[in-house]
Amino acid sequence: MNDVMRILTNRASLRSFSDEPVTDEELEQVLAASIHGASGGNLQPFSIITVRNRDTSSWLGEKCEQEFIGKAPVNLIYCIDLKRIADWCRLEAAPFSADRSFPHFWISFQDTVIAAQNGCVAADSLGLGTVYIGTIIEFWDQCREKFSLPQGVIPVVLVCLGHPAVAGHPSPSPKLPMSLVVHSEKYREPTEEELLKGMRSKYRFEGQKNPDKEALRTVENACLVSGGPELAERFRRNVEVTGMINIPQFIFGLHYSAAERHLSNEDYIEAIKRAGLDFFSCH
Ligand SMILES: Cc1cc2nc3c(=O)[nH]c(=O)nc-3n(C[C@H](O)[C@H](O)[C@H](O)COP(=O)(O)O)c2cc1C
Repeated sequence: MNDVMRILTNRASLRSFSDEPVTDEELEQVLAASIHGASGGNLQPFSIITVRNRDTSSWLGEKCEQEFIGKAPVNLIYCIDLKRIADWCRLEAAPFSADRSFPHFWISFQDTVIAAQNGCVAADSLGLGTVYIGTIIEFWDQCREKFSLPQGVIPVVLVCLGHPAVAGHPSPSPKLPMSLVVHSEKYREPTEEELLKGMRSKYRFEGQKNPDKEALRTVENACLVSGGPELAERFRRNVEVTGMINIPQFIFGLHYSAAERHLSNEDYIEAIKRAGLDFFSCH
């Protein structure tokens, strides 16, 4: 294995940061790696807000309801940025409609994430650690105000950056077996046995044993919302037999339940429009 492969396969999200500051040189290398990422048409429709201010980091931690964000020496907000290109076109008398085009949104989103991931790999190579924070999309409007984001700029993901609190990096998380993810030439659906075996090999914990009434009610309600009474009944029977909430029931019924989300799909679309990006209307 070469050094890059070692970095890529040993990486793990870091959520516990030491007080050691990230130097300007280290930060510059992370940002340079981001800027050198692949980008559709090389348009680079993204901006990165660097946050070192403790109060601002704490604010981000509070908003995302994840305290460790406030302790990261640097927080990087990766944003789609179509304003720079819009302004360029205006100044150069060129036509611009990317802010109303779904394909442009799709590509600019990918460009932004690629920039972030390049930065994360660079950080790992420097002995720093990172973690992505996706919940920043739940308070887009407040971010626009806090970071003076103009129309056409919208946060995609937050990356916390710093040195590990204890010597060494956290252990890599178990991942899916390649046989479930990679398809040769054509998509191949695994058998049910293969699927369950692959998933069980990844998730080492069994589920939530002896769940309390509140947890059972929450998962049952999520089953009702997403699959109706039949799914809710299957869930109840499953718990009766096994005495536990199994892993996908835990993940999708308790942890990531769509029914429990703060914002609806419509709320997100409206927030995107308020940010001056109207990808979802026909033009
Ligand atoms: C788009 C995205 C959003 C994420 N959001 C969060 C988050 O809000 N909080 C958090 O602690 N981790 C977050 N993570 C990190 C994942 O939980 C983590 O990558 C996953 O558990 C796998 O662990 P690993 O990164 O150590 O391989 C996010 C990761 C991605 C890619």
